[in-house]
Amino acid sequence: MKIIHISDLHLPTQLPFFSLKGKMYTGYLNYAFRRKSRYPISVLNGLLLKIKSMDYNLLVISGDFTNVSHEMEFPNVYDAMSPILDSRTFVIPGNHDRYMESSIRPVDLFKKYFQNYQGEKCGSGSTYLYRKKIGNTHIIGIDSGYPTGVGIAAGRVEENSINELQNLLKNEKIKDYILVCHHPIWNPEEHMESESHRLTNRDFLLNELKKNPPSLFLHGHKHTNWYRRKDEEIPFGIINSASSTMLPDSKRNNGFHYIEYSEKGNHSVQRFSFDGTSFREDRLIEY
Ligand SMILES: [Fe+2]
Ligand SMILES: [Fe+2]
Repeated sequence: MKIIHISDLHLPTQLPFFSLKGKMYTGYLNYAFRRKSRYPISVLNGLLLKIKSMDYNLLVISGDFTNVSHEMEFPNVYDAMSPILDSRTFVIPGNHDRYMESSIRPVDLFKKYFQNYQGEKCGSGSTYLYRKKIGNTHIIGIDSGYPTGVGIAAGRVEENSINELQNLLKNEKIKDYILVCHHPIWNPEEHMESESHRLTNRDFLLNELKKNPPSLFLHGHKHTNWYRRKDEEIPFGIINSASSTMLPDSKRNNGFHYIEYSEKGNHSVQRFSFDGTSFREDRLIEY
């Protein structure tokens, strides 16, 4: 199986100031004055063009499609992504797609636009647990984003979701699976996250996953790329493909990963990044 993994698209957006509410004000100002200039449309176009030219069976998008979860952002994002939304696509939301309570209730805006690409719903109605099956490999999505206060980008995977994941793995005797989650479960020393940015229950999640480990953990959120090989401490590969639509700078790489995956979890990974005009193969940032 050939997998493309992209993340943290944070697609360009223009919102009427009067339509913002609550935390969106600071989020949108932060976007307009800081983030926007690092997200030129040329990178998005280059990414779409590159993906269209590649041979793959699965495209994983691990969240942060939007900037502030505004109801006007979702249809724009959907239209912009439509060239690569098809039966091969598997998506999960990021914390920016869960920015405010109003983006989840009464209508889950992410679901409204992307439900055809979330996979099959598993577990009870109240938890986020979705799955797509390709051959004998299960691609499972969990949700770590939830509405937080101003300046907080922390994540949490509900304990119920983790329990239901364990039940699914046990009941269906699943051994070959790839887990997709927005927040990192591990960081390299030079890219540590503060308490207000990280997955707050990641130690618990890691300990649970060790009981029946995935072969790969695909995520985004921390905007730079890495690939961590499995070892005794963490018995699965970890890939961060954030942020695929951002210009790189001196501290952060951008790009996406292309994974050749065979059953039993064996895989090889390539990285592609934007060189100013198009996406080309680049050095794998490996740990
Ligand atoms: Fe992000
Ligand atoms: Fe994020």
